[in-house]
Amino acid sequence: MIPARNRAVLPILGFVICAAFIYLSFRDLWLTHKWRTELGFVKRNGTQFVVDGKPLYVNGWNSYWFMDHAVNEHSRYLVSDMLEAGSKMGLTVCRTWAFNDGGYNALQISPGRFDERVFKALDHVIAEARKHEVRLLLSLVNNLQAYGGKEQYVKWAWQEGVGLSSSNDSFFFDPSIRKYFKNYLTALLTRKNSVTGIEYRNDPTIFAWELINEPRCTSDVSGDILQEWIEEMTGFVKSIDDKHLLTVGLEGFYGPKSPKRLTVNPEQWPSELGTDFVRNSNSSHIDFASVHIYPDHWFKNQSFEEKLKFVVKWMQSHIEDGMKELNKPVLFTEFGLSNLNKDFELPQRERFYRTIFDVVYKSAKRKKPGAGTLVWQLFMEGMEGFHDEFGIVPHKDDTMYRLMIEQSCRLGRVTGRRNEHHLKKICSHRD
Ligand SMILES: *[C@@H]1O[C@H](CO)[C@@H](O)[C@H](O)[C@H]1NC(C)=O
Ligand SMILES: *[C@@H]1O[C@H](CO)[C@@H](O)[C@H](O)[C@H]1NC(C)=O
Ligand SMILES: *[C@@H]1O[C@H](CO)[C@@H](O)[C@H](O)[C@H]1NC(C)=O
Ligand SMILES: *[C@@H]1O[C@H](CO)[C@@H](O)[C@H](O)[C@H]1NC(C)=O
Repeated sequence: MIPARNRAVLPILGFVICAAFIYLSFRDLWLTHKWRTELGFVKRNGTQFVVDGKPLYVNGWNSYWFMDHAVNEHSRYLVSDMLEAGSKMGLTVCRTWAFNDGGYNALQISPGRFDERVFKALDHVIAEARKHEVRLLLSLVNNLQAYGGKEQYVKWAWQEGVGLSSSNDSFFFDPSIRKYFKNYLTALLTRKNSVTGIEYRNDPTIFAWELINEPRCTSDVSGDILQEWIEEMTGFVKSIDDKHLLTVGLEGFYGPKSPKRLTVNPEQWPSELGTDFVRNSNSSHIDFASVHIYPDHWFKNQSFEEKLKFVVKWMQSHIEDGMKELNKPVLFTEFGLSNLNKDFELPQRERFYRTIFDVVYKSAKRKKPGAGTLVWQLFMEGMEGFHDEFGIVPHKDDTMYRLMIEQSCRLGRVTGRRNEHHLKKICSHRD
């Protein structure tokens, strides 16, 4: 029973509820509309990335930890802070993991079973990236052990009694495991983002998909097994999503099908990993090639100067492949200089970065296939557990900070993008 003196409130209350309802509905409609417009898909035209009718050269970074940190309320802010920091340096693409198989905070708990809480975290990451005008290169599985990787898939197949072989490489050839991976691809590509309402496959915030981080299949030196897996999985991805660009995720080593290039490999061993940069990247559904740059890990004993020389040769060789063999852009998706080197000094890192940035800038000026770089890796203060020998906290190193802004601005100038969103503010006083 409502007391009489309160009855007059009822119509007002009704009105408020109604207004709130209308507001929320329109807000949703407006939000969906907002998220759907204003952002073009990144495409490619021959050896160049193109968006909104203009070429795009990428200055970007890696923060593999986004989804993981977005799961829990107390660490979620780090994702936004990192995107904000990246955006303030004019960085336009971030590469991050869209997988976590098996372990702690797993997205895929077991084959085909997903944790909605973690999927919502990935939704959040994508929505935040959009807000900061940063696009995401999303990697779909790890060749390495971290966050599950191919080894986890092999374990699952064993546990379910369908595994053919305990070799970690059975990830590539076991038909049951291939099916697991395809189920995962379907779930991910058709996921409807709970924040934006947009299916991942229709979301231009996603720069591209990367099939697998650093594939190696050492049990088949010929490279045929990996090549066949790439053909099958790229065809499958494109059958669900033909809007996004797709890359393999290679480190860039040459294999037996590229005999003339073998001397460009750091040493002899990379030709025996079952991969081949040219052959794998030439696959018809692959839109651009990827290369990593880690001389510290690839040579046993080289001086810093020798490493710099290698880096230039390594990059130029792949850019030339992009031109002559592939007719596709070549993106340097990971590079870093280790602080564990015996002779390490901070100024070396600046020279290392500058050398790499210069190669891309020169390529961009001549409209060649060197399409950009992604630093490995950036993280925020208070995340020391995620530090590695390569990591950088943007605000803590002024020289690096300025160097990255400079690269953003000069690439923006080459493509006539200097007046776009975040570049406008940071580059105005630079030329
Ligand atoms: C694609 O590239 C070619 C050659 O560089 C150029 O002539 C053409 O205008 C480009 N097309 C688009 C849509 O950017
Ligand atoms: C699979 O890889 C893991 C990690 O590298 C290794 O510990 C394990 O021995 C491998 N399994 C087989 C059967 O080679
Ligand atoms: C790349 O693929 C095309 C056809 O898709 C083929 O004609 C060409 O020979 C291949 N190049 C290399 C280097 O494999
Ligand atoms: C490593 O290289 C330095 C000079 O580049 C040389 O003096 C040293 O003997 C080398 N060490 C080994 C273990 O080869």
